Amino acid sequence: MPSENTRRVPLLDLRPQNEPLRAEIEAAVGRVFDSQYFILGPDNREFEKEMAAWLGVPHAIGCANGSDAILLALMAAGVGPGDEVAVPSFTFFATAGAVSRTGAKPVFVDIESKTFNLDPGSLEEAARQHPGIKAVIPVHLFGGSADMDPILAIAAKHGWCVIEDGAQSIGAAYNGRPCFGLGHMATLSFFPSKNLGGFGDAGMITTTGDGLVELLSALRVHGSREKYKHEWIGFNSRLDTLQAAILRVKLRHLQEWIAGRQSNAARYQELLGAAGLPITVPQAAPWQTRHVWNQFVIRAPRRDELKAHLATAGIGSEIYYPIPLHRQPCYLDLNCAEGALPESERACREVLALPIHSGLRDGDIEYVRDAITKFYLK
Ligand SMILES: Cc1ncc(COP(=O)(O)O)c(C=O)c1O
Repeated sequence: MPSENTRRVPLLDLRPQNEPLRAEIEAAVGRVFDSQYFILGPDNREFEKEMAAWLGVPHAIGCANGSDAILLALMAAGVGPGDEVAVPSFTFFATAGAVSRTGAKPVFVDIESKTFNLDPGSLEEAARQHPGIKAVIPVHLFGGSADMDPILAIAAKHGWCVIEDGAQSIGAAYNGRPCFGLGHMATLSFFPSKNLGGFGDAGMITTTGDGLVELLSALRVHGSREKYKHEWIGFNSRLDTLQAAILRVKLRHLQEWIAGRQSNAARYQELLGAAGLPITVPQAAPWQTRHVWNQFVIRAPRRDELKAHLATAGIGSEIYYPIPLHRQPCYLDLNCAEGALPESERACREVLALPIHSGLRDGDIEYVRDAITKFYLK
């Protein structure tokens, strides 16, 4: 047990989940080595099948990373120059970056204050103002689902394609229904910090309809179903066989890691809620029937000072995200003025992510609570 003055609580420590799997992972890597099958090998096909079963969706198609997954989904939906795509302004850049990479324009939408996810009211407003919208990308941010039913209803009314960005939310459920099967397509990232993280980059697209499987599978290999015959213009976005082999091992433990995050979140809610602090502690919304807590994000007055104070106590924290996408330098030409999306802007000023990973040790959460208490109530 570390003494209080030597305790360190990093924002993320992957060793406690990876180290116990060393032998299994080395065996999986050895299997790929023995086969010398490095691109779209048997482990890719098995991983896709296992992921589809785990998520409860009919189809899962691996690709190089979560950003490409969004791009591939947009390409499969036929989004391109002249189109617009509605995205939340408060998310990781990739959600909007993928839209721009197709030649389409993102239409930034505000978020709800409680869940940080796309606000259906703001989406409705965007629909009125932007008849060129062809698709919407609700993001299931921080591990909790967006409020999908009103979003799906607006999308159905306008005939939009719905692509769930589930990069941070593998295993999440909305009103008892698993995410990743709610819209037309959904995307995943296996970036190492995600709840299921590879030893490098990897991603995946899921789809509910049979119609898109062949197209998505082809788009990630230069639009080719048959070698050297190109029916579509795709690009190279294959998931490495080595990553697939490693992720297959890790998938078997995902459930327990999610449970660890959920119990850490409950402990934070209990301790921080009882401490009389001026912070807002995140709670799952009623529709977030399975929140998987990829991040535990508080709203904190004097946020930057608190972050610095936590750092001196050896506690890692992070600002996800400091600048709303509509105010990013590369999107200023879209003329979405400061003040236009107030909840996204307020979130950027107030949010702070605390350590939540399943490798937290006994006493870590109490230590974080004590450090926050000392900052506000000293
Ligand atoms: C919400 C969201 N979308 C997309 C991505 C992109 O995933 P990747 O880093 O695998 O390209 C991420 C990853 O950080 C993300 O958090």
